[in-house]
Amino acid sequence: MNLSEYLAQANALADECRALLAGLDVATRLDTAKGQLNALKDDRLAALQGGLRALPAEDRRAAGGAFNTLKLSIQEALDAFAQRQSAATGTTAIDATMPARGVWRGSLHPVTLVIDEICEIFRELGFTVALGPEAETEWYNFGALNFPPDHPAMELHDTLYLGEDTLLRTHTSPVQVRTLQRYAPPVRVLAPGQVYRRDFFDATHAPAFMQLEGLAVDEGVSFVDLKATLAEFARRFYGATRRVRFGPSYFPFVEPGAQMDVEVDLGDGKGLRWVEILGCGMVHPNVIEAAGLDSEKYTGWAFGMGPARIAMSRYGINDIRVLYDSDVRFLEQFAR
Ligand code: PHE
Repeated sequence: MNLSEYLAQANALADECRALLAGLDVATRLDTAKGQLNALKDDRLAALQGGLRALPAEDRRAAGGAFNTLKLSIQEALDAFAQRQSAATGTTAIDATMPARGVWRGSLHPVTLVIDEICEIFRELGFTVALGPEAETEWYNFGALNFPPDHPAMELHDTLYLGEDTLLRTHTSPVQVRTLQRYAPPVRVLAPGQVYRRDFFDATHAPAFMQLEGLAVDEGVSFVDLKATLAEFARRFYGATRRVRFGPSYFPFVEPGAQMDVEVDLGDGKGLRWVEILGCGMVHPNVIEAAGLDSEKYTGWAFGMGPARIAMSRYGINDIRVLYDSDVRFLEQFAR
């Protein structure tokens, strides 16, 4: 190879490198571009570098200069590509100041948050947590709770039967009886758990949902204890300024039966309004007796609420189905 051939090869390589980079789409990744460039130039650049020694001494200076110019122009062509790329995307190819991608954090479901919060409030009021089975017998779910044998709640279209005598419990009230059979008064328990009904899934109903049962039984317990404890719960949960009211209601296992309403803002722009949040009452003497206790000696009160409804009243949710959809865009609002 003589000098003019050397210079021609160096020029040709510079031209080809420039043409390659100029021809690349701006969407090409920088390392992909470098890979293509290296495939084109590496061997030929090494050959030119080695070829310097083969030239006559008087030509080496000029050839060496051409070799350096070649390397510079390749680097310039690469810089020009990177610049074209950042101009197109509005970012620099490597931005060391770019924030790292956020860490994904799991969070508790709003219904779980509400259950935990309610359990904590009642724990401060002296209640412990009790659990019962989701597959129940007719006796625990209905009979012991003073339902007459022909009560409509026992109908096939209201209750999911698993067999002759077993069913998916329709409420957590059977835990009242199981607890009283097991522990001697004074008893103060909270029983959260899943319950099942043959309901359609719509904006206000779900066929499987959580309930939270409360039970307090001792000597000399009266309706005053019920009202005072539940009103105190409402103040702690909804805020000290929220009003509560009690109205009559009917459940076979309490006498008298009542419901508690709380004034809440559902976040729909309509302001404060009364919302029923739980059913309650004095435990019926027949239930105390069914559990094997003396109803002349012991009295008590109980309540049952739906944490999903409570979550809706707390967070201004107007369709219960969002609590079952597992849509992360909804759920992540509750991440703490
Ligand atoms: N078990 C009743 C229901 O499911 C709620 C309730 C519990 C009412 C305890 C009064 C006392 O609707």
